[in-house]
Amino acid sequence: MTARTQVAIVGGGPAGLLLSHLLRARGVASVVLEARPRERVEARQRAGILEHGTVDALREVGAAARLDRDGLPHDGFAFHVAGRRIRVDMQELTGRHVTIYAQTEVVKDLVALRREQGEPLLFEAEVHAVQGADTDSPRVRYTHEGAEHVLCADVVVGADGFHGVVRRAVPESAVTTYERVYPYSWLGILADVAPSSHELVYARHARGFALASMRSPHVTRAYLQVPNHTDPASWSDEAIWDELEARLWLDDGSFTLGRGPISDTSVTPMRSVVVEPMRHGRLFLAGDAAHIVPPTGAKGLNLAVADVRVLADALGEWYASKDETLLDAYSGTALARVWRAEHFSWTMTTLLHVDPDADPFDERLALSHLGLIESSVSARTTVAENYRGLALGG
Ligand code: DHB
Repeated sequence: MTARTQVAIVGGGPAGLLLSHLLRARGVASVVLEARPRERVEARQRAGILEHGTVDALREVGAAARLDRDGLPHDGFAFHVAGRRIRVDMQELTGRHVTIYAQTEVVKDLVALRREQGEPLLFEAEVHAVQGADTDSPRVRYTHEGAEHVLCADVVVGADGFHGVVRRAVPESAVTTYERVYPYSWLGILADVAPSSHELVYARHARGFALASMRSPHVTRAYLQVPNHTDPASWSDEAIWDELEARLWLDDGSFTLGRGPISDTSVTPMRSVVVEPMRHGRLFLAGDAAHIVPPTGAKGLNLAVADVRVLADALGEWYASKDETLLDAYSGTALARVWRAEHFSWTMTTLLHVDPDADPFDERLALSHLGLIESSVSARTTVAENYRGLALGG
């Protein structure tokens, strides 16, 4: 069957879903095609820190009722380094806070709203080809409920993640890919126990990185640096808690780790990737389809949201006035923020992890940088500004 819409959005994660809502608010029709079943999309555990601009976007589309009720505002966070605590007070340094609210919950809220509005969102719709990028009528071919479909649109947006099909429709010669792979991964846990600290703690320890985070006042989320290709089953619950305790330790004894039943474990490899430009003809890339950050600092979701805010404004303007200025600027505007977040995520990652190939010189440099963050208000302010999100390009 052949159908038509204005914007075909491939990918029903946070970027694609939010874009559909932002476009609707601008009077632009879209269809969202998601390859996975709804349960899988809604169960995916990712980070949980929302920048102010991300919260604003969710409020703008009317998807923030639960977020406003259950989100936890955090004014700051701490580094634990060699048994000492360095606090970064974002609120004091930058006048802004971040909000703890899991990405899975953001997705559930965006799906529920789309359903409520009766707007098109198809799960288990597998896209196998994107054609006509260089024409003014690109097409998406997909399978849904055993039948083949063609969706014709004015533009196609790839919000289908790093392994998505839309980017593969762009000729390799038309893009440049920048990449960095890290020699460590994160072992992540979810546990039914109250967070040990009311703010997040990022630890650099001789044994490696650790992070104590949370999902709610009753659920702890925590991570440990582990070697690449670690099998999560090779870590017993007790060994995980012991290692977290060792790495998060403070010499003055003021940090006590609460332990509880672990409900989920996973291992996540880390890399940085940027694909430039984020547009090819009538194809536009947003979120992980165009860039990946390592998780340290939780920028992935916030970057995806920033992309689709810029893109929604540009498409809204184009449909309203036929003016292509913002659309032509999309890739450059988005990439300015992307590279800032890439630099910040790389800095946080290399500062806090122990590279197995590093020498004592690298170790001293990292400790010196953390010392500067501790002693210098301007160094601390730079960290705080990047963490809470810079106001570049929307
Ligand atoms: C979480 C993840 C992060 O990458 C981070 O920097 C902070 C928190 C989280 O999943 O809670």
